[in-house]
Amino acid sequence: MDNNPAVAFMRDPEGRYVYFNRTHQLLFQEPSASWLGKTICEVFPAQTAAELAAHDAEVLATGLVMRAEEKVPARDGILRDWLAFKFPLQDAVGRRFLGGVAVDITDRKLAERALRESEERLQALSRRLLEVQEAERRSFARELHDEIGQALTGLSLVLKTSALAHGEDLSARLREAQALVKELMAKARDLSLRWRPTMLDDLGLLPALLWLIDRYTAQTSISVQFEHRGLEQRFRQQVETAAYRIVQEGLTNVARHAGVATAALRVWLGTDVLCIQIEDQGAGFEVKLLHSSARSGGLSGMQERVHLLRGRLVLESAPGRGTRLTAQLPVQEAENGERHVTDHFAGR
Ligand SMILES: Nc1ncnc2c1ncn2[C@@H]1O[C@H](COP(=O)(O)OP(=O)(O)O)[C@@H](O)[C@H]1O
Ligand SMILES: [Mg+2]
Repeated sequence: MDNNPAVAFMRDPEGRYVYFNRTHQLLFQEPSASWLGKTICEVFPAQTAAELAAHDAEVLATGLVMRAEEKVPARDGILRDWLAFKFPLQDAVGRRFLGGVAVDITDRKLAERALRESEERLQALSRRLLEVQEAERRSFARELHDEIGQALTGLSLVLKTSALAHGEDLSARLREAQALVKELMAKARDLSLRWRPTMLDDLGLLPALLWLIDRYTAQTSISVQFEHRGLEQRFRQQVETAAYRIVQEGLTNVARHAGVATAALRVWLGTDVLCIQIEDQGAGFEVKLLHSSARSGGLSGMQERVHLLRGRLVLESAPGRGTRLTAQLPVQEAENGERHVTDHFAGR
């Protein structure tokens, strides 16, 4: 019994200890104290003693073996989880005792809790992904309607009137129709590039980023100092897409919130990670406040992308002191789901 890793004990019907093994002694008892003859009320905090006494009483009353999970503090006072089996015992003269063995299942409980939390997180994540997908579809639909739908309506009208026209009038209308078709083609091309630049798939991250920066500067007049290293190779598709979307959202945020004329973009290949950094010297903001506000914006989407790839995202900002966003995306796919993710939003 003494070398048993489980604790073993016997108590009388008043809850007085009449036996315990060495493991029990080492785990619960101060070396100088002796628990023999003491009741559970004397050696445990009131709440623990009450819980144990209730279980003991039930076993003695029913005469059946009980399997119970109990929270009992060890010698250091820290509550631990125990899986206990309790059973009735009888001595030669018919006195009844309570016998018990218990093993420490604290680590298992912790692991179960971690698993539950990670499952909940995953569920929340997939809910969010569905919402984002819906939101994107809504915005695609609106853009299609506004940009393409209207031009098509115009074209249809011009063609209708040209059916009745003759001579110079007809050729003028056809020229107008042709101009509308050209405009439509440009719009369609622009929309499809905006939704998903084909060059990201066809040519890779670097050409797509160069194109994005060009377009960004043309539209916002913000110049981008782009430094990169190690981008001549292709990366797996998830990494290229995430990197592209992070830069897109990061630069958009600079244009929307920072109030600056230049931004810096650095993308480089480190050891096993693709690093992306977007920095501006603009307005900045209180990062702490971001946590409490609704987490539906571009930054949380960015954080989710990084999470899914088991990467790391660091956001440093402070009012009046600019913003720096750094993402690290593992280049190789993780072999299992156990790599730790650290997300870290910090003040500056
Ligand atoms: N580069 C930046 N400069 C200043 N403020 C920023 C910057 N990036 C983000 N922010 C702040 O963080 C908030 C959250 O950003 P985001 O999640 O992208 O949502 P949104 O851009 O739709 O407001 C912004 O509303 C803004 O206040
Ligand atoms: Mg944004």
